[in-house]
Amino acid sequence: MDLGLKGKNAIVTGGSMGIGTAIALGLAAEGCSVAINYRRHESEAAGVVERIEQLGCRGLAVKADVADFADAQNMVRRVEEEFGGLDILVCNAGINWDGVIWKMTEEQWDTVINVNLKGYFNYNRAAAEVFVRQKGGKIVNISSINGIRGKFGQSNYAASKGGEIAMSKSLARELGKFNVNVNVVAPGMVMTEMARKIPPEFLNKAVDETVLGRIAAPEDCANVVVFLCSDRARHVTGEVIQVDGGQYI
Ligand SMILES: NC(=O)c1ccc[n+]([C@@H]2O[C@H](COP(=O)([O-])OP(=O)(O)OC[C@H]3O[C@@H](n4cnc5c(N)ncnc54)[C@H](OP(=O)(O)O)[C@@H]3O)[C@@H](O)[C@H]2O)c1
Repeated sequence: MDLGLKGKNAIVTGGSMGIGTAIALGLAAEGCSVAINYRRHESEAAGVVERIEQLGCRGLAVKADVADFADAQNMVRRVEEEFGGLDILVCNAGINWDGVIWKMTEEQWDTVINVNLKGYFNYNRAAAEVFVRQKGGKIVNISSINGIRGKFGQSNYAASKGGEIAMSKSLARELGKFNVNVNVVAPGMVMTEMARKIPPEFLNKAVDETVLGRIAAPEDCANVVVFLCSDRARHVTGEVIQVDGGQYI
């Protein structure tokens, strides 16, 4: 099925690894130019750009902390200049720093909220300005089922992920009249670096919770994101699509 994405220009935050890499490559496979950002994994980000270019598309990697408001403005401006426009934003860069609330430090709380929630504000804000001006665009924000159900030891992460959902629904309402779709993909457990840091007993528990009896591959999320970025999903907005194998029904 042709998704009609050929020639579109996209930003994927946190594209150097994991789900972000799969989304960047999924969009490039459909013919999109893709800019990714990252904070630490420079050579991995360069490798992703190489793979985007091997698919015949333009790629760009920018070192930018998503928590920095000015960095987001600069990245959107740079992509508009180098690619000739921006059509798609996928906010994906995220971290966790777990701990029960009675032991959580202020730094733990602030760091996770700044990267996950403020980081999504920064890029949604910068892209929305472009999309309102051009009367069109697609935004997909990657949240988590833990932003819906909460999770033991993840009050900071769950608050940030729930905040992303509430923000996205508000933006869907604000931007609909400008022909901008805003949706959320909420994965369950996905096999990435983030999941590899989890002790095996918790990973096994996630598999047990999952109706389909497996942990997702990053591509399972990317496939849904790419669809939502296309006009095949033009009448879908303000939705939260769980890609969790039935982990949280
Ligand atoms: N894996 C899961 O089980 C799972 C489940 C539900 C939801 N999610 C969500 O899916 C998204 C991606 O997760 P993942 O598992 O793919 O994570 P990951 O493998 O740890 O990759 C995270 C990506 O975000 C980037 N990043 C982190 N902090 C950043 C910052 N301050 N500025 C710029 N880039 C930053 C990382 O780049 P550098 O390392 O190069 O800085 C990396 O590219 C996150 O929002 C996460 O909450 C994941």
